[in-house]
Amino acid sequence: MLSTVFKTASALALASVTIAAPTTFPNYPPTLLSQNFRLVANVTSADLVTPINNYVLTSYHTGAGTAYAVLVPNTTVTSGRIFYLNGTASDVRYHNADVLSDGGTPLFPFGVIINSDESVSINAGLGQPGIGLTQFPDPISELSGKTAAGEAGDFYACLDDVIPGGEAVQLKFKVLGEETPAGCADVSLLAQCSEGSGAVDEFANTVNCYADVAGIDWEFYDSD
Ligand SMILES: *[C@@H]1O[C@H](CO)[C@@H](O)[C@H](O)[C@H]1NC(C)=O
Ligand SMILES: *[C@@H]1O[C@H](CO)[C@@H](O)[C@H](O)[C@H]1NC(C)=O
Ligand SMILES: *[C@@H]1O[C@H](CO)[C@@H](O)[C@H](O)[C@H]1NC(C)=O
Repeated sequence: MLSTVFKTASALALASVTIAAPTTFPNYPPTLLSQNFRLVANVTSADLVTPINNYVLTSYHTGAGTAYAVLVPNTTVTSGRIFYLNGTASDVRYHNADVLSDGGTPLFPFGVIINSDESVSINAGLGQPGIGLTQFPDPISELSGKTAAGEAGDFYACLDDVIPGGEAVQLKFKVLGEETPAGCADVSLLAQCSEGSGAVDEFANTVNCYADVAGIDWEFYDSD
């Protein structure tokens, strides 16, 4: 009698251990290391009528050395600009690094900038300190934005902001707590490892990035 009770109790204890274990350890998509990456849109809300999930980030020229950051379909292996996280180790540590992309002939740096009207630019010259990539201990590698005033927030894109005559959709940024406007989709911009642009970037950091963002099956992974 006594031994039966004991066996039942220990069997129960064992069962609770086996049930609890799988939910205790989060599982994130595996990353590789690279100095260069492309940024791929991962839509986390309802998508636009013309879906933009897995679109890649590039620039849409608006003037001499100025361009909007836009999302375009990934049509070839070279679609989307090549980016890098620029800064010293201390810039990275204190979130003062910036995200740059080399372009032009000869190659020169363009920086990702968040404008006060919520649009995002990729302009020749300095980037905006604080626009970086989330890295360890954050388990996900994605573009992290901040306004020039230092306010954190999230990226989104809207059907109304499709560039006339094309499929490019402007990238937007809203500060934390602000609602995503109707007709718009929330996007995370995940880093996909890439070859370099050919430029030698003394302050390019080695970052975590995914081999193939579009191939990640989120059913099996956690995201925060
Ligand atoms: C990517 O998108 C999927 C589908 O919406 C979502 O489940 C997942 O949490 C997202 N991951 C990240 C890191 O945004
Ligand atoms: C773009 O598509 C190609 C296949 O055509 C794929 O190899 C590549 O990983 C994609 N690039 C991005 C950044 O998603
Ligand atoms: C890249 O980072 C270095 C080190 O902080 C800095 O001196 C340089 O101005 C940065 N380049 C650009 C274009 O922001």
